[in-house]
Amino acid sequence: MAQYARGSAVAVIRLRNPPVNALSLAVLQTLEDGLKKADADPSVKAVMICGENGKFSAGADIRGFSSPKRLGGALGPIVSLIESSEKPVVAAIEGVALGGGLEVALGCHYRIAHVKARMGLPEVTIGLLPGAEGTQRLPRLIGVPAALDMITTGKHIPATEALKLGLVDEIVEENTIEAAIRLANKVIGQPLGPRRLSLKPVPKVPNMEAFLDEALVKVKRQARGCLAPELCFQAVRAATQSPFAEGVRRERELFQVLLSSGQAQALQYAFFAERAVRRWATPSGASWSSAAPQPVRRAAVIGLGTMGQGIVTSLVKANIPLVALEQDLENLNKGRKAVMLLLQREAMKMEGGAQILDFHNPAHLQFTVDFDLLRDVDLVIEAVFENMALKKEIFHKLSKICKPGALLCTNTSALNIDEIASATNRPQQVIGTHFFSPAHVMRLLEIIYGRHTSPTAIATAMQLAKALKKVGVVVGNCFGFVGNRMMFPYVQQAVFLLEEGSRPEAVDQVLEDFGFKIGPFRMSDLAGLDVGWRSRKDQGLTGPSLPAGTPARQRHGQRYSPLPDLLCEQGRFGQKTARGWYLYEKAGGRTATPDPWLHNFLSQYRDTHGIQTRFIDQEEILERCLFSLINEGFAILAEGIASGPEHLDVIYINGYGWPEHRGGPMFYASTVGLPRVLAKLQKYSEAHPDVPGLRPSAFLKKLVAVGNPPLKEWMSYLSQQSSKL
Ligand code: CAA
Ligand code: NAI
Repeated sequence: MAQYARGSAVAVIRLRNPPVNALSLAVLQTLEDGLKKADADPSVKAVMICGENGKFSAGADIRGFSSPKRLGGALGPIVSLIESSEKPVVAAIEGVALGGGLEVALGCHYRIAHVKARMGLPEVTIGLLPGAEGTQRLPRLIGVPAALDMITTGKHIPATEALKLGLVDEIVEENTIEAAIRLANKVIGQPLGPRRLSLKPVPKVPNMEAFLDEALVKVKRQARGCLAPELCFQAVRAATQSPFAEGVRRERELFQVLLSSGQAQALQYAFFAERAVRRWATPSGASWSSAAPQPVRRAAVIGLGTMGQGIVTSLVKANIPLVALEQDLENLNKGRKAVMLLLQREAMKMEGGAQILDFHNPAHLQFTVDFDLLRDVDLVIEAVFENMALKKEIFHKLSKICKPGALLCTNTSALNIDEIASATNRPQQVIGTHFFSPAHVMRLLEIIYGRHTSPTAIATAMQLAKALKKVGVVVGNCFGFVGNRMMFPYVQQAVFLLEEGSRPEAVDQVLEDFGFKIGPFRMSDLAGLDVGWRSRKDQGLTGPSLPAGTPARQRHGQRYSPLPDLLCEQGRFGQKTARGWYLYEKAGGRTATPDPWLHNFLSQYRDTHGIQTRFIDQEEILERCLFSLINEGFAILAEGIASGPEHLDVIYINGYGWPEHRGGPMFYASTVGLPRVLAKLQKYSEAHPDVPGLRPSAFLKKLVAVGNPPLKEWMSYLSQQSSKL
């Protein structure tokens, strides 16, 4: 609702729809009524629009876009109504003015903002464009380059930057509402023509067309198949080419294209999925609503390799003092140097007055090789080599040294949390916190509870994720947890496709065209082929512990490809050795070039094993890789490892570079249609009976049998979830 009040000569319209004053149809109606009332009342000389509870508005109610009485189109005429008012209208911006919220403010004749407010047009991030004339007004106010940047990226800008851009007229540190009323009183009677943005020309940029052409190339490159950024661009370009009214018509057309594109639904699903996973629950009944987190005043990180360095950086950025521990002085010094470099870079990037902990002060960040210094920390994150014996040794030590309440976290990628916990005297306080590389950049934190992990431990890990500005997703304990477990069959299919006749660049291309940031082979070269090789040796799948006489392409009766092992035996570990699935310009180089040596090697390999090379089309590449990953997702859901498909999707979008405009793997499966996913898996499984990853999961079959229900109903078809606690 919006609330109308009139005290003095200034009428106040307050947008009210907790928690973020989203512009529902009801709010818009009362906003319109308020404007008309103020217009009709001769004692009202000016109008001030503000939001309830220190927030202007986060824009249109996103849920409204999928309802039958659609919001799209309702706001634009109201923004025009504000602008055409004969009485000055002032926006008092506190908290956030986003999307339609900022468009309302752009309709106002004056804008005044609190210094801590943030503004933006984030519609592009939910697959839309600012559809209430924002693409036409913003360029007229702040110029094309700045408007294009805000509209095509959706970034939020702080009030201080908004002032510099001319987006707001004034910023205040104290009471924004009072300041706005003062401003409104001051401008009564002043001409409004120059304040109406629709009447202003778009400021000229030298060589506008050349500038726009260049900008378009950049927008397309960054969009990776997502439609919204390009259509946002087109709407802004229309502002530079046509009068206001025509630009608005173009904006509306483009908005309708996006609304019905499917991508908007996927991105809006992803928006709500990210929020839904915060309400975690486990099969045993523990949940966010009843568990309270413990405070983390001081932390520790053990192991300052690739992951430890990023984790330390993340903690410092979140202003959590910590101790960083290594096994010896040599590794400590190496780790310290790398961490300091990362922190210096991060400190330079901090914006909007945000502060980073003084990391030169040992009271904030202390480097050591002495376990005794971990005595009084509240939480430890272990990030040593992926080796069960080593991890158990460390956890045993920790349980003797750390204070009784301390939470003990492991950053293992796949190992059994219960086994690690068994080395301690407090398994209820042991939990997996699986960060993704680079840990100070990637948003995902997979949080894995073991059989004995307490609800408090889970709540504390979730709280930590929030403090680190990450997305925490709570999952159960199994080999590879959710993310890596779904990744195994995907990567396996990619390698099998090479055996059968494809090439790394062909497979990568198909998956990158689908929207992945990076295909499986480029990814493997980046992460290092040796990582998986070590793990397979530990599992006895290759190397000296492999029993003599094991068939080259079979393990435990299932198909196995030794190709990655053979590459490692040749010292081809990926980027770090300048050779892997591709060739690189130097060790550590990043430019992947297809490698004739590898093509030749693959031909010889096929000859050796009597595999007939065949042409594999793009459809087969895509389906075998994606559907096997999705199939594993259904198995995970059936086992109760995750409490809903949203969890899997949030993990894939935030940790594995899944294209957000496709909503995550499970959402994607729902858009393809489960019967089709099942039929394809059945077909591929018949062709490859020795590949369990292609055998359709029982849960998928059940969902198809009950008529392909919508994703939000899937979990209700599980008769019983297995308890993992
Ligand atoms: N519509 C509906 N619900 C919204 C919403 C919106 N625009 N913005 C936030 N919410 C809901 C969230 O779903 C969440 O609900 P639950 O508590 O039930 O999970 C609640 O409000 C609080 O949101 P957050 O948890 O995200 O709170 P936060 O403090 O971390 O962030 C925020 C606040 C920055 C406003 C963030 O919610 C946000 O970015 N919102 C989306 C803004 C947006 O995209 N606006 C554009 C909408 S499209 C449009 O306006 C117009 C158009 O012309 C097409
Ligand atoms: P790494 O090899 O880069 O670093 C491990 C560090 O641990 C080394 O610096 C080593 O000196 C230190 N260390 C070993 N024993 C120690 C001890 N007893 N005490 C203190 N420090 C000790 O390994 P990386 O890649 O950082 O991996 C660490 C953990 O994170 C592993 O469990 C791995 O599976 C997991 N992980 C790795 C990811 C990656 O992309 N590299 C992603 C997610 C998880």
